[in-house]
Amino acid sequence: MEISNNIEISKQKPILVVDFGSQYSMLIARRIRELEVYCEVISSSKTIEEIRDMNPRGVILSGGPASVYDTSAPATDIELLKSNLPVLGICYGMQLMAYQLGGRVNPSKTHEYGKSYLKINNNTSLLFDGIPEQIDVWMSHGDKVETLPPDFEAIGLSMNSPYAAMANSNKKYGIQFHPEVVHTPMGKDILANFLFKICEAEKNWTPAQFVETTVNQIKEQVGNQQVICGLSGGVDSAVAASLVHGAIGDQLTCIFVDNGLLRKGESESIVRDFSDHMKMSLVHVNAKDRFLSILSGVTDPEEKRKLIGNEFISIFEENAKQLGDAKFLVQGTTYPDVIESMVDDSGVGAVIKSHHNVGGLPEKMDLELVEPIRDLFKDEVRKVGTNIGLPDSIVWRQPFPGPGLAIRIIGDITSEKLEILREADYIVTNEIKKAGLTKETWQAFAVLTSSKSVGVMGDDRTYGYVIAVRVVHSEDAMTADWSRLPYELLETISSRIINEVPNINRVVYDITSKPPGTIEWE
Ligand code: XMP
Repeated sequence: MEISNNIEISKQKPILVVDFGSQYSMLIARRIRELEVYCEVISSSKTIEEIRDMNPRGVILSGGPASVYDTSAPATDIELLKSNLPVLGICYGMQLMAYQLGGRVNPSKTHEYGKSYLKINNNTSLLFDGIPEQIDVWMSHGDKVETLPPDFEAIGLSMNSPYAAMANSNKKYGIQFHPEVVHTPMGKDILANFLFKICEAEKNWTPAQFVETTVNQIKEQVGNQQVICGLSGGVDSAVAASLVHGAIGDQLTCIFVDNGLLRKGESESIVRDFSDHMKMSLVHVNAKDRFLSILSGVTDPEEKRKLIGNEFISIFEENAKQLGDAKFLVQGTTYPDVIESMVDDSGVGAVIKSHHNVGGLPEKMDLELVEPIRDLFKDEVRKVGTNIGLPDSIVWRQPFPGPGLAIRIIGDITSEKLEILREADYIVTNEIKKAGLTKETWQAFAVLTSSKSVGVMGDDRTYGYVIAVRVVHSEDAMTADWSRLPYELLETISSRIINEVPNINRVVYDITSKPPGTIEWE
């Protein structure tokens, strides 16, 4: 019974982040979760009644690309700003607060992007409690507040604005800078002040508590029915499956469809980890030939994704049928997926690649979803994984796309190319691991390009494939930067690939960040 009380406590009084389309909305939510407070991202169309129904401790208005004077500019319910709930407006959120409460916002000619400073005015504001008088902050705005709304006072100024931070006595705060990005070093302390000193939030969002409550919820949802799960070896499905296994044991059967598009040794390690060590009931389907045959001659990336997704569904369905009458399907949906689909629904934001290749399965098979990690960010998934005792080799496995190596071979796929890529890819990940960089690297992999180039090996002219090495760091894959690896490490990777992998005579390093590039090449 204590467990269900905990569910109440941890989610009962969330912090809400109203999303105005900022690339940083999700980051704000992550920072709050890092401070062990539960929070949710909500659409800007929510009314005050809907917000009140969620019983929040406080609300944060995110930044966004609009100007408050745009005809289609998103706004918040004015009643929220007049209520006694604590509200913190960030960047566009501050401008909107100022504008809606009767201040003036100026479409400024001088934009303020990047590093700036904030000078705090006679520091009596709880928001800046314990913060030094002058701090570095990160700005990214065109418009700025020109006249404060009635009853507000300026609590900080910047190079570009006398109103870089404002507050009133009714717990409404606005800051022009972004506290959520790492380039605002005191940003997390400022957010902590808002959470703990202004909203009086409690720290109760921890992995241990999440595990307890989630296991209980799964038991309640599933009862004594049978559950199936598609296991890919990735951290999301592994943690989701383990939570469900912890809750209902042998009522869960995992199906691992081996599509032959996995990395070196991966298929063996999935069987070893889940079946041998964790004692999960695992059906291992060897479908390598089926996938190779449907992919034969296909070069278009989206076509590859579609074919692989559909084939996966057919094979999964065939095997699930043989198991009898499962009523539930476990999916490793995470919070970024939930937010992304929320954004897509409102028409803001474009779908760049069709990622979710198991979509369609639950409807087709008439299964109810069990999504135990749909509230979690990737770093939280990892913390939960560690908390339930999964080994580092699973918890720190880098994200790997569902279509696997098929979208890392540019152009058509053959078993010979798969073999080449697997060897080159192994060298990249192995050298990153030896350099101790696995945990700080988001993804590190090789791409087999469709280019061939001339080389010379010994006295012979060669004409071989070009391998591209891609190593990026990222917090959530929405944005990413290429990793500045030491030259010596790049040299080792390059010479090992050329010496150890046949048909490769050139290695290049991808120095494109996302945006404008994507992480994968296809
Ligand atoms: P991009 O290439 O869009 O990738 O920057 C962002 C993240 O998503 C992964 N990714 C995929 N995952 N199916 C997946 O399950 C896909 O089709 C797919 N495409 C990209 C990519 O590895 C990165 O982590």
